[in-house]
Amino acid sequence: MLNIIICGAPGCGKGTQSNLIVEKYSLDHLSTGDLLRKEIEQKTKLGVIAESFISKGSFVPDEMIIDMLIQSVDNQSDKSNGIILDGFPRTVAQAEALEDLLGKRNKKTTILIDLLVDNKELINRLLKRGETSGRSDDNLETIKKRLQIYQEKTTPVSDFYKNLNKYAAIDGIGTVNEIFSRISAVIDLNR
Ligand code: AP5
Ligand code: MG
Repeated sequence: MLNIIICGAPGCGKGTQSNLIVEKYSLDHLSTGDLLRKEIEQKTKLGVIAESFISKGSFVPDEMIIDMLIQSVDNQSDKSNGIILDGFPRTVAQAEALEDLLGKRNKKTTILIDLLVDNKELINRLLKRGETSGRSDDNLETIKKRLQIYQEKTTPVSDFYKNLNKYAAIDGIGTVNEIFSRISAVIDLNR
């Protein structure tokens, strides 16, 4: 079983690479951002609350995210070889909750892949995507806030996994396929 975390700043390519990883390794894709956007689209209670945080570039509260994640982990399909977590955990509290959750199910995190991309490139990518994405957080003001919050709250998650010896940094600059080759090499080494 593979339980891979793909981590990195907004726009680093988590979603793009997850799609390729899911196909190659037959994993379930679990993106907390995508799950929240679905809730927003369906105008659920969770969606309305989530939108108020997302549009400001802030994080949705840990408890809401952890509850949502537990449900998704338990709904995993029998046919998959595991999961790829995209955009979770984003805080140390979420990382602790994940390790607890997996441990209770006799599972463990395989590796955290940290996609490294500089802020200038991230801003360029997100502004370009914002021309067509319709996402309320793809504008310059919110992008800057997202990058700041990421730095503050998600950088410690890398240290958490470094301490567990389950951390791999990957250069996230290059073509999508070049980056995917780097990621595949790390997965193959750790599986
Ligand atoms: P989320 O949806 O996870 O957004 P994000 O982390 O800000 O990242 P993005 O989805 O914007 O980027 P990505 O890394 O997936 O890159 P992509 O592949 O799209 O979260 C949104 C919000 O939800 C958060 O801000 C928060 O409010 C809330 N939330 C979610 N999870 C949460 C959690 N766990 N706790 C609390 N709150 C949470 O690529 C970006 C663009 O670049 C695309 O246009 C793509 O085509 C392009 N691109 C990709 N690769 C390359 C490349 N190699 N070269 C050039 N362009 C590329
Ligand atoms: Mg994404």
